[in-house]
Amino acid sequence: MLMESKKVLLFGGSYNPIHQGHLNAAINACNYLKCDEVWLIPRKYNYDGSLLLDSKHRIAMMKMALTGLDNFKICDIELKDKNKSFIYTYNTAKYLKRKYKDQYQFYFLIGADQLNNIENWYAIEQLTKMFQFVCFKRPGYPIMNDLADKYHITIIDGRQIEASSTMVRSGDFDKINDNIQKYIMEHGLYLKERIMPRLPERLFIHSLTSARLAKKIAISLHVNANRAYVASLLHDISKSLTADEIKKIIEIHYPCKLHLPDFAWHQYASAYLAKVEFGIHDKKILKAIESHCYATMKMSLLDKIVYCSDKLEESRSFADEVIEIRKEALTNIHLAFIHTMEEQLRILKNKKLPVDTHLEKLINYYKRKE
Ligand SMILES: [Fe+2]
Ligand SMILES: [Fe+2]
Repeated sequence: MLMESKKVLLFGGSYNPIHQGHLNAAINACNYLKCDEVWLIPRKYNYDGSLLLDSKHRIAMMKMALTGLDNFKICDIELKDKNKSFIYTYNTAKYLKRKYKDQYQFYFLIGADQLNNIENWYAIEQLTKMFQFVCFKRPGYPIMNDLADKYHITIIDGRQIEASSTMVRSGDFDKINDNIQKYIMEHGLYLKERIMPRLPERLFIHSLTSARLAKKIAISLHVNANRAYVASLLHDISKSLTADEIKKIIEIHYPCKLHLPDFAWHQYASAYLAKVEFGIHDKKILKAIESHCYATMKMSLLDKIVYCSDKLEESRSFADEVIEIRKEALTNIHLAFIHTMEEQLRILKNKKLPVDTHLEKLINYYKRKE
């Protein structure tokens, strides 16, 4: 008696990260086709060939999303690809066909957005002959029936959930489960994308440029580069708030800092937001954010890197005047820190602003120490 081969639905994607939209589409298609299994195939590279978020994070989140879905499996063949041969789905398909022969009957799931672009897929004629393609509808992407007919693609109806990984990456966590949200927060994933919608463009660029400089200095000085990057990226995040909102945070959470000049408050409010809204609990990162503007006499190496990166980064209007200090920071952050503070003082004097006695005291203190 002939054994019927198992029906397997293949669903490739970046899964950066996985969300309810992916699961909903795969469950609907699986039920419609009466498949035995669903294999999710995470891509190693973006469509343009660039690397995606480290696959260990994407896989960890996929495993969390698949809890309870026993017939769902993660097929990691593309992740193991060493020479970019699986950048084309056609090669993945050929590999699966060769490996499993007639053991499985494969279906391949795509979204309506991919259907509309299908003529650009490598070897699409052969590919759609190898596997039966099925397509799920997506709001905002009308189905192009002529393409569906040409490649014999089955269109699947069913409840649609509009979700995208882009939405998740920019901080909209509505369509992911709580464990994945926790994971993103705990590992500081997608920080850049999450701060972007919050800050005006100029401040976003300032934060990003500071973070890149901080990372470069940290690497050069053998200090934890990730800490320097994260602290600098978030150092001005409270500037998305109004002055009253910042004051409220200081009154409630940092009442002992109320006596400081109000320009200094935003450093504490930023540390507060980093903790509660971005899930950063690393004390060293939070301390560096808390001293990036109004420095203290207890500045660690990391604190100095974050302080200097904020003032020396290349998008600042006075960036050209601090080229030498920026270079110095790569080899001697202690001297660069003093020179950065002196530069700050000079700027204040040039602008005929009141002399910052706190800054003067700090400069003298650190000069004596050197
Ligand atoms: Fe700041
Ligand atoms: Fe800043």
